[in-house]
Amino acid sequence: MQVAKESIERSILETYENSFPSSRKLYKKALNLFPNGITHDNRFLKPFPIYVDHALGSKKWDEDGNEYIDYFGGHGALLLGHGHPKVVEAVKRQITRGTHYGACHRLEVEWAELIMDMVPSAQKVRFVNSGTEATLMAIRLARIFTGKSKILKFAGHFHGWHDNLIPGTTPPYELSLPGILNGVLESIIVCPPNDIKRVEKILQKDNEVASVIIEPTGASFGMIPTREGFLKELRQVTRKWGVLLIFDELITGFRCARGGAQEYYGVMPDLTTLGKILAGGLPGAAVAGRGDILEPLESREDEKWNLGKKMFHYGTFNANPLSASAGIATLKIVATGEPISRANKMTSMLIKGMNEVIDKHRIPWCVHGEFSGFRFLLNHACYKRASCNFRKCDYDYKKLKGANDPVLVQNLRCGMLLNGIDVAKQGGWVSAAHSAEDVEKTIVGFDRTIDWMKRSKLLTSFD
Ligand SMILES: Cc1ncc(COP(=O)(O)O)c(C=O)c1O
Repeated sequence: MQVAKESIERSILETYENSFPSSRKLYKKALNLFPNGITHDNRFLKPFPIYVDHALGSKKWDEDGNEYIDYFGGHGALLLGHGHPKVVEAVKRQITRGTHYGACHRLEVEWAELIMDMVPSAQKVRFVNSGTEATLMAIRLARIFTGKSKILKFAGHFHGWHDNLIPGTTPPYELSLPGILNGVLESIIVCPPNDIKRVEKILQKDNEVASVIIEPTGASFGMIPTREGFLKELRQVTRKWGVLLIFDELITGFRCARGGAQEYYGVMPDLTTLGKILAGGLPGAAVAGRGDILEPLESREDEKWNLGKKMFHYGTFNANPLSASAGIATLKIVATGEPISRANKMTSMLIKGMNEVIDKHRIPWCVHGEFSGFRFLLNHACYKRASCNFRKCDYDYKKLKGANDPVLVQNLRCGMLLNGIDVAKQGGWVSAAHSAEDVEKTIVGFDRTIDWMKRSKLLTSFD
């Protein structure tokens, strides 16, 4: 069972190493199977990650039977928490009726109708299987529609791992990455976040820009927060220069508001990419937006169109009935607005409580975030911590994402796991299933982990 006691005799990492025997054993096998022993870069943890056996509500349990409060939230897909009864019921019903018809079906219609109803700018929809596919489709559509080739993105913003948008995502935010052709790199412009003057200068000078893509609340769900007013300015500038605006609402969609960040901030993009919550914890994503921009997905009885404008799009699992069943059940509940307010409320309590712990320990850390996400900043040199309003803060964006000391991150994550709490290196996601009791336990575990880190001389108070 988890350590969960006031003090540990050995270091966090040594204690961790000896506390999760089944996970350690599985990781040993996995090392021979997968690069680094893992299947997603964010699951990297030394000495080994935990192996999860099952999950329910806000909790998950590992192979040794240890219970964790889960803040990974299915990488942001699980706004309702694990195994919401209505979602489980819908998926169970669907699995007995068929998982793949290779045909059109009633559920895809219902699923798309919900998107139209909830997402303000959605006039037409196309389903794909992941966010990576959705942003790939969105920029291809933008290129076809405008006849231009370049895409402007913002440093730090993540839009999936394909060649066109992964450059400029992680520090030092440079374009060049192994395996990506120079020809592709020439079509990508990476702009510092929140700098509208720079965007306008680029669009004015370069007539080849097809679209601007942005995570509306900022890189990695507000890790580098978007400055107040920036989205409206961006809409004006892109319209002025005839450039399409894509909101990548993979995270913010159905989380910031029923209709995502576009509804919350009242700014209409031309195209929107959706995923995660959209498919209720199963694989599934979509591109939604202006009907005229999605037109190239149509086949026509016109050879000139089919050869010159048609965007070919296949995908074995597009609009998969099982994903649709989970998505429909989830969106119907999210549409009430209740899960969003509940998750937001729990997140505010959590952020406040964690920052109080940080203040008590007098360490230069900060937990920030909006809506239902929280972010760790373990090098917050301006010492304003809890009182800092990151949306107005002039803090250097390069210090906000990917700049946390990896040793601190590792010890924080392992220490939290020893206290029965699973957080990601960036922070975490809160669901509507998290309770005030979960929040309270998390704050206590955070306090204890910091205490252990101070005792191991990994952290010192600043006075
Ligand atoms: C904003 C954003 N866009 C795109 C993606 C890529 O989505 P997927 O992991 O489904 O390919 C993610 C994934 O985390 C994301 O956060």
